[in-house]
Amino acid sequence: MRIGVLASGGGSNLQALLDHFAHVDKDAGEIVWVGSNSASAVALARATAMDIATGVIADATDGVAILTQLAAANVELLVLAGYLKLVPTNVVHAFAGRLLNVHPSILPAFGGVGMYGERVHAAVLASGATQSGVTVHFVDDAFDRGAIIAQWPVPVLPNDTPSTLAARVLRAEHALYPLCVAAVASGAITLGPDGQSHGRINLAALDTLFTR
Ligand code: GRF
Repeated sequence: MRIGVLASGGGSNLQALLDHFAHVDKDAGEIVWVGSNSASAVALARATAMDIATGVIADATDGVAILTQLAAANVELLVLAGYLKLVPTNVVHAFAGRLLNVHPSILPAFGGVGMYGERVHAAVLASGATQSGVTVHFVDDAFDRGAIIAQWPVPVLPNDTPSTLAARVLRAEHALYPLCVAAVASGAITLGPDGQSHGRINLAALDTLFTR
């Protein structure tokens, strides 16, 4: 499958995806386009460095313009990697079952409007939770909702700050997200008519990350 990625910021998840599809699993899919709502996003520079086409989303609410860019690049699977804008409904519907997001908590906890970046991790610490984690899910019309594809737990340690917890969770994101994107790209995971995720992903590669 031809994969497009939308990212707003640093793009470390984008880099994990670029590395995965360039070096680890060339057969599952190919990243062919990276878009951002910010022309100065590091994510765009990461794509350019790997000779991948890029696009700037001038108006994040203009779904027709986004679909036009995706069609021009023949994108079949759209992946959000730290994309901070709500994806317009017409894009969500056009890419139903082919639109994924990664979120740095165990959804539905610590998700939704305003729950991004270090705010997520600050809220986890404030709650006193001893475990956080990563969720990869299909995207529907609301932030951080949609059928869950996979989750991976990450421990909260006694002296954690939002940034130390974010770094630990990010490490799990980098391991989990490429496997999930590859599973959807290869057809191993699908979104069923029941609105649920179907299929299996082999996550054995993550077992060395943290004890579950
Ligand atoms: C990640 O924590 C991701 O889960 C969230 O935004 C962050 C993006 O980081 N949606 P990066 O841009 O991939 O480094």
